Amino acid sequence: MNSEKNRAGLLFSVRKVSKIFKTGGGGENRALEGVSLDIYQGECLLIAGSNGSGKTLLMKILAGLMAPSAGEVFFLGENLEKAAVKLRSGMGLVFQDADAQIVGETVAEDIAFGPRNLGLPGDEVRRRVETALGITGLTGKQDLSPRRLSGGEKRRLAVAGVMAMGCFAVIMDEPFANLDFPGVVQVLEIIRDLKRRGNTVIILTHELEKALAFADRMVILHRGMIRDTGKPAEVLARLRDEYGIRNPLHSYSAVEDCTWLG
Ligand SMILES: Nc1ncnc2c1ncn2[C@@H]1O[C@H](COP(=O)(O)OP(=O)(O)OP(=O)(O)O)[C@@H](O)[C@H]1O
Ligand SMILES: [Mg+2]
Repeated sequence: MNSEKNRAGLLFSVRKVSKIFKTGGGGENRALEGVSLDIYQGECLLIAGSNGSGKTLLMKILAGLMAPSAGEVFFLGENLEKAAVKLRSGMGLVFQDADAQIVGETVAEDIAFGPRNLGLPGDEVRRRVETALGITGLTGKQDLSPRRLSGGEKRRLAVAGVMAMGCFAVIMDEPFANLDFPGVVQVLEIIRDLKRRGNTVIILTHELEKALAFADRMVILHRGMIRDTGKPAEVLARLRDEYGIRNPLHSYSAVEDCTWLG
């Protein structure tokens, strides 16, 4: 009964995925290796890893933007090729570089871009833009140039675009990068609201303390391999220094606490 329920709730199933790049001199960089992971609908999954651990590659592979060198990814039970249309409309991406994602001259046009591309009628596009502005707290800014938004607002704009597409799942790559405290709060509010609405939220970050409160589960990615998976408190209790991730449970208020210093 339980396994039936779990299978029904499976959003992504990643099976032994590897990504290998050729390097000069005939060598290779095994950037992802044997990654197997199930992601469930409605969960908030934190994928933590230091710089270069393979987070962005994993996001690109999940989103069908990059083919793995080996292994397979299933979205709602179908391999990514078969699921391409479902994936494009159901899965939204918020990139590490918020500026690179801006496509419209105004906030409203930027949000309208996705639903318009889906071929929706004008009335429906306008309705969706209004709703997305409201959900992301950008109402009143619809006529501004997106470039004038603050860092936190730009990330909210990316989420608004995703919501207007009707996506029920979102992957956020380093959503806290370059944000000051109010910006972080804005993004956290969005994550909280997405969760409340039952959306699946996948957060890729090395700043795990910021999103920890929302995470149902967390995964440690280290040098392209999954090194741990579980409830955040359990994984944090086992966290190793070699992963290069700051453990928010530890105190670093005195020099003696900084055990990694030589
Ligand atoms: N197109 C590419 N060609 C060769 N190597 C690549 C390519 N893209 C990524 N890599 C390598 O794959 C590894 C993982 O990269 P990735 O961008 O996924 O890291 P990340 O965890 O997102 O890091 P960051 O926290 O800095 O964003 C890195 O060692 C990187 O050099
Ligand atoms: Mg990255």
